Amino acid sequence: MPQPTTEPAQVVRTSDNQLFCCKSIDKLISESEAPGQRLQKTLGPWSLTALGIGAIIGSGIFVLTGTAAAGEYFQAPSLLHAQALDVIVNFLRTGSTAGALMHGRPPAGPSIAISFLLVAIACSFAGLCYAELASMIPIAGSAYTYSYATLGEIFAWIIGWDLILEYVVSNVAVAVGFAGYTKAQLAVFGLNLPEKWASPVWAGGQWTGAYFNLPGFLIVFILTLLLVRGVKESAETNNIMVTVKIGAILTFLVVGAMLVKPANWTPFAPSGFAGIVTGGAIVFFTYIGFDSVSTAAEESRNPQKDLPFGIIMSLVVCTLLYVGVAVVLLGMMKYTTFVSGAAAEAPVAYAMKYLGVHPFFRSVIVIGALTGMISSLLVFQYGQARIWYAMSRDGLLPKLFSAVHPKYKTPHWSTWIACFAVGIPAGLVDIGDAADLANIGTLFAFVLVSLGVIILRRKQPDRKRAFRVPFVPWFPLISVLLCGGLMFGLTLITWLRFVIWLALGLLIYVFYSRHRSEFAKK
Ligand code: ALA
Repeated sequence: MPQPTTEPAQVVRTSDNQLFCCKSIDKLISESEAPGQRLQKTLGPWSLTALGIGAIIGSGIFVLTGTAAAGEYFQAPSLLHAQALDVIVNFLRTGSTAGALMHGRPPAGPSIAISFLLVAIACSFAGLCYAELASMIPIAGSAYTYSYATLGEIFAWIIGWDLILEYVVSNVAVAVGFAGYTKAQLAVFGLNLPEKWASPVWAGGQWTGAYFNLPGFLIVFILTLLLVRGVKESAETNNIMVTVKIGAILTFLVVGAMLVKPANWTPFAPSGFAGIVTGGAIVFFTYIGFDSVSTAAEESRNPQKDLPFGIIMSLVVCTLLYVGVAVVLLGMMKYTTFVSGAAAEAPVAYAMKYLGVHPFFRSVIVIGALTGMISSLLVFQYGQARIWYAMSRDGLLPKLFSAVHPKYKTPHWSTWIACFAVGIPAGLVDIGDAADLANIGTLFAFVLVSLGVIILRRKQPDRKRAFRVPFVPWFPLISVLLCGGLMFGLTLITWLRFVIWLALGLLIYVFYSRHRSEFAKK
């Protein structure tokens, strides 16, 4: 490797090839302190934990637990819609394309509680890696910035572009879900929103005749007003929402526990370990979001200590709640109940209604679920703006993205652009299975962050780390294997979309960002 040479603008090139140049961590930190680009430092350890819980508990726990326990069997309509790993295994087993298309998931049954625990363990390996890098490089861009400091510019660009899948795409899905849920709830109270202004324009591959899904757009718009106004205000609102949704889940645990029939817990694991693992691939979605704590690095008062705390604590709290919900729900009703229909779509609400729980408690749960979606939307909108802000500061995106509001000290342009990037698609389409793109994008980021820990331990062994992952390189390698394994559980069409998305990003890099980076040869 060539020796680093210092250029006049104090840019240290770590490679002759711009693609592999890494940013100096000291320079990253000093740039974040530059006047006009400095964000306000207001977040403490518990606000960071609440940010993590806010992002993690969204719609997933209220929607996916039932189907993950009940399992499903079907023939994929085409090769593209089959799971990548399934296709390979089934093709090798049967030797035919038709055989390759047969797939499904065996029911996990009550052992879905173990799936939640296992996915939490898989996520915590990645979480530890995020914690180490966040404590070393307390900069807003999360995985994007870590990749720039460890793997090189091209990897940083790829991951920055990839994270749009985690933040924007998943938020479009949550905003559409929120709109549907709100419409249904208001109808229960006798308030019917006009169909044409409260439904997706394009759904299930066809035009619906609707004009715009206004509730989906409006919720993102209102949250943006809050986010631009200030991080402290946003964090305070988030704290309240997190309290409400935790309260709702605890209410469910207490009320549900009284309706448990232990007989429903047997058989505990109807499909043995296979059911536990495949159920885990589904409930992975419910854990997405703990990494968004790291995007708050520049706004936290003591990032070195508080970021690792926030990441790990939010994972622990959510794991306890998720395992609790799984144990109680699968004790309330037999897992086979949740195989289809309303029981599959809203298992928690269904079980409560079926078993005659008082409407007051049911309303508490519904309000908790809606609040959960709002806080998840809030934190992901926040995170996306911070990542664009960091990419713009490095020159890879236009300068507008890193402009800070003179009064509120928030990256207002990025925040507004994120509003329309999510709000407009949410008003137009029901992206359905595109939410799988969020899973693949997130898992890919986890893999690169875990590799980043190993690389940085070799390249900069003496740099101060307020938090250290134990047993390096083994723990990060386990994270790479587990996250990589989950990626292979996704469909081929998801892989194809993912590759097209990355190719699109590379075009932007080649024609725009490459020429504006500090490593561009002038
Ligand atoms: N983890 C988030 C949810 O479950 C995305 O909705």
